[in-house]
Parts: sequence; C-alpha cells; structure tokens
Amino acid sequence: MTHLAKRKLEAQSRACCHCVRDLLCAVLQERRPADRALRYFFRNNRHYGSRDRRLLTASVFAVFRWWGWLREMLPAGTKEADSQDHQTVPINLPESQCQRLLLAAWLLERDELPPVTDVWAGQCGLTADWRRITRHKGNDLGEYGARILAAVAGCHGAGGLAKKDLVPAWCMDYLPPGNDRDRLIDWFQRRPPVWIRVQRADTSNVIDALRNEGIDVEAHPGFDDAFRVKPTRTNLYGLNAFQHGDFEIQDLASQAVGRVCAPSPGERWWDACAGAGGKSLHLARLMNGKGTIVATDIREHKLKDLKRRARRGGVPNIQTREWKGTTVRRKQATFDGVLVDAPCTCSGTWRRNPDARWSTLEKDVRELADLQTRLLHGAASGLKPGGAGTLVYATCSVFRHENGEVVEAFLNDHKDFELMPFTHPITGVMTCGMVQLLPWEGDCDSMFIARLVRKA
Ligand SMILES: C[S@@+](CC[C@H](N)C(=O)[O-])C[C@H]1O[C@@H](n2cnc3c(N)ncnc32)[C@H](O)[C@@H]1O
Repeated sequence: MTHLAKRKLEAQSRACCHCVRDLLCAVLQERRPADRALRYFFRNNRHYGSRDRRLLTASVFAVFRWWGWLREMLPAGTKEADSQDHQTVPINLPESQCQRLLLAAWLLERDELPPVTDVWAGQCGLTADWRRITRHKGNDLGEYGARILAAVAGCHGAGGLAKKDLVPAWCMDYLPPGNDRDRLIDWFQRRPPVWIRVQRADTSNVIDALRNEGIDVEAHPGFDDAFRVKPTRTNLYGLNAFQHGDFEIQDLASQAVGRVCAPSPGERWWDACAGAGGKSLHLARLMNGKGTIVATDIREHKLKDLKRRARRGGVPNIQTREWKGTTVRRKQATFDGVLVDAPCTCSGTWRRNPDARWSTLEKDVRELADLQTRLLHGAASGLKPGGAGTLVYATCSVFRHENGEVVEAFLNDHKDFELMPFTHPITGVMTCGMVQLLPWEGDCDSMFIARLVRKA
C-alpha cells in the first residue's frame, strides 16, 4: 500500500470514530433519531465526500444494529448506566475503543469489508491473516458473535451470545411470544431492501425509464406496482423518474396498508395521520384519480411535504388540513373510509432504523397506546352516518399493546363496529380482520393492520 493510500485510510478511520462517537451520544443520551443526527453531522462536516458519507452512514448503522453485543466490549471507565432506563451509555470513548467497536460491527454485518477495516485490525493487534475469522460463519449467529468479540476484544471466549441482548431487555414482555420473537430479532439484524411503488399509471414505462438510468429492479410477484431495487450506489431521489413523481420509495409493508383499505374510485377517504402522505398518494393511485382524499396531520410542515409530493406525482385529488385528534362535527362526518396510520414506537422498523430500539423507552409504549386509542376514537367519528364505513387502523409497531389491544379497547367502547376479515395482502391467507405482517413474509418491515366496519 502506498504511503498516500495509508494516510487516506487513517483519515477515514478518524472520521468514522468521530462520527460514531457523536452519534452514540445523539442516540443513546439525547434520544435523537440517527438519520437526523447524521444529517446534522454532515451539515457541520461538509468536507466529507459522498464515498466517505456512505462509509460513515453504513458504519454508524452497523454499530447500532449490533450495539446490544458490542457494548459488552467496553471496558470499565468507558461506560455508565443511563439514568432513565439503565442501559449502557459510552463515556469518553478513546479512539482505540471506537476502532474495536467499528471493526466488530463490520465483521458482524457479514458483508464485504471496507479497506479501512485493515487499519482497525492493525490497531487491535490482529495478525496479518485476521480476515480468516469471517470464514466458517456457520448457522448460529450467537456463536459467530462470540467468536468475533473474542477475536477483536478478547471477551466472550466461551458459549454463544444471546439474541435477546440485541434488543432492550424491557421489550421482551412486548414482543410476540414463542418462536416469532427469536425470528423477529434475527430479522432485525438483516439490512432491509429498498422497495418502490410506481405512482404513475404506466408501470412498464416507469420501469423501463429506471432501467435506462441504470437501476435494476425486481417485480413483486403479488403487487403489480411494487418493485424491489437491487443494491445500487445511485441516489434514487436524484433520478429523473423520481423528480417527475413516477415512483415513490415505500416499504412493501406500508404498501400493504393501502391494499387493505382498498378504496373504490369515486369514494371519499380520510387519511387521518397522513404525515408526508406516503399512504395518501397510494390511496389516490388505487382510486385512479377519482374521488377525494382528505389528508390531515398535527404537523403542518409534513402536510406541506405531502402537497409537494402530490404535485410532483400529478395527483390533484388530495386536500390537506390540520387535525389534532379530536372528534369531528356531525356535518364533517362525510367519509366512506378512514385510515389511521397512528404514531407509534416504530418497533416494526427496527431493521431499517436499528438505532430506534436504543432510544425507545418502555414508558413510550404506554403513552403511545393512550394516544392511539384517542386518535382511533376521534377518526372513527369522520365516517358518514348510516353507511357501512370502513375504518383501517395501522401501526409499524410489533407490540400488541399498540396494536390488538388498542383495537380491542376501541371495539369494547364502540359496539357499533366490528372486525371485517380480509385476505393477508402478502401471503393470501384469510385473516380475522387484524394482522401483523412479519418481515419474513415479504422481506419488509413489520406492520399491524386492522380493518373495522360499522355495522349496518
Ligand atoms: C406513522 S406516521 C404517519 C405516516 C404516513 N401515514 C405515511 O404513510 O407516510 C404518524 C403521524 O401521526 C401524526 N400525529 C401524531 N400525533 C398526532 C395527533 N395528536 N393528531 C394527529 N396526528 C398526529 C404524526 O405527525 C405523524 O405524521
């Protein structure tokens, strides 16, 4: 390796350590989302080019994905227990410890190693053929993890690491019981693919245009407008097809929500927690531009984003309004269908946002369940009287307290509503009217969806 190449790798190593230290503090102490903290970090460190940014982003996400095991490597004096939830928080991390964390995180990712890992391996005192530790990965993640930690930090020589440690201890009581719990944790450790949804009617033209821009996509076997994007370095947001509103980036599980709503052209729908409108746009597409969608949210700036996206996609029939979760007046109860895509812990997206598991507190689950119950009650009042209106409740959480329990409490208080069975949008199996979509069903996030109907 030339002297210059070596200096470049050392600079990359310093950048990674700087970024990881910053982000550990932002997420674990200040409880800020990593993607936002990263944007802030890059704004303050404009000298990093796109290749550096990609490396830093991947490194930070790898550290959070494996933090549950990596924190075991920290020696006394470099960690303390957080005052709120008693989780391990690093303090005054020296560069050498940062390098160990980074090397172990990349090895646990079981993916192609970036050249900077050679610098870290050297600093950790590993021998020239250190890459052999990635061979014989075996099937047991816990054993592989123990081997990596032993090699990099000399800890955990015997026995495998426990998968349950990859998520906070408190959430064991909230995750689905039995085998699904272990399987879910396994899936949280796998990087998710990017899914897009074609927004324009002419799907094949949109896909041809994407392929012409060098993007390889694979059609979903069940959803005619859903495509999985093969790994690429191209920024999808910069593509002409995106700028023209031809497609939206939307996880498959989120796309499933629109399909459960199944609005008919000409109907009037209310997307009560519309945010930036991912699902409003989908409803509009399913309605072929006929009918109306009223999109509301408590955050008006999100509705501005929604308007921009609707303009870009040439969607004229979405109206936006502020809504704070209260019941609506009788004369405003005009909707054939209402979607409540409620604010939640987002635990079903811990695969995509591995940091979120470390910034969510147990008390958030209870507080959100109260808010969700209130929002569902408020939104139900928007259905037009007399008809058999459809009420869809969705969250991207895997905790039953935010899902089935909220729906059951609602049904207890609203005897005029009942569950309406529907076909699981991905597996095709009939549901009782509530379903928890699981990542292995479609290589996607986990999403809870319930469909209720007001009795005639
Ligand atoms: C899961 S997000 C919605 C995502 C959006 N449906 C999409 O597909 O992009 C939940 C939304 O609920 C909104 N929200 C939170 N509290 C609310 C409240 N009290 N009343 C109305 N909306 C609220 C949040 O601002 C957030 O945009």
